[in-house]
Amino acid sequence: MSATIIDGRAAAGRLRQRIAARTAELTKEGLIPGLAVVLVGDDPASQIYVGSKTRQAQEVGIHHFDHRLPATTTTAQLVGLVKQLNESPEVHGILVQLPLPAGINSPQVLSTIDPAKDVDGFHACNVGRLSLGEEAIVPCTPQGCMMLIKEVQPDLAGQRALVIGRSNIVGKPMAQLLLRNDCTVTIAHSRTRDLPALCQESDIVVAAIGRPKAIAGDWIRPGAIVIDVGINRVTDDNGTSRLVGDVDFANAVNRAGAITPVPGGVGPMTIACLLMNTVHAAIRARLRSGNTV
Ligand code: GUN
Repeated sequence: MSATIIDGRAAAGRLRQRIAARTAELTKEGLIPGLAVVLVGDDPASQIYVGSKTRQAQEVGIHHFDHRLPATTTTAQLVGLVKQLNESPEVHGILVQLPLPAGINSPQVLSTIDPAKDVDGFHACNVGRLSLGEEAIVPCTPQGCMMLIKEVQPDLAGQRALVIGRSNIVGKPMAQLLLRNDCTVTIAHSRTRDLPALCQESDIVVAAIGRPKAIAGDWIRPGAIVIDVGINRVTDDNGTSRLVGDVDFANAVNRAGAITPVPGGVGPMTIACLLMNTVHAAIRARLRSGNTV
């Protein structure tokens, strides 16, 4: 039996429509959500991501402020820019694209972002709030994964969830979100023993390791929900380049109950969640200022 294919492109499109409608209402009330996007250096992949983020922000009516800085930028200069953006009333969200060039102290830069404007959810304040179960800005990729899981299974209580990967951006916050939703959560990583056995006993598998087809189809428990965060570029024998996930989709699709494709699964949800975090940050800023229009 073939799995339900979870269409992230369609889900992200629906989410963007809701964001555009809310942004139009806010704009009528005099509140234009604003997103500052900071790109340092000329990493080609980052340039593509940042281009998509600003284009989609514009499409839903979010005002974007682009800051492109040379790779020679110092930590002090970048911290200075972030401080200016923290003070700007037109900016409700600040995104500093990662990875930053090797010479820059990334933790210092990220910890300078006002937690209320930290639409990536990377600041220790938001990380801490998420783990305490308090209201927090949640990192975009795990938030998008959770929305896709909920599309096929709204109640996750008691589900055995396996997160493969322990990054600060995806693996750790993903585990927290699943825990918040009453799953029994395991985090696997490069030193984990017997990953196939862990997969075989999991009702939900979120793969975020960044290695093409690292998760074999026959490791998947029949009927499981499989969320593939990997975006890996591979070149076929005939020289054609294409994107594949961390899961061997062609085989996993015959065992899973539901699975995200690559491309067209998690990827589109990440940017839609960034836009949603920005609109929410703008609304909270207005509430804090006491102006509820
Ligand atoms: N680089 C790769 N993914 C992300 C992300 O979600 N946010 C930022 N700021 N940089 C990234």
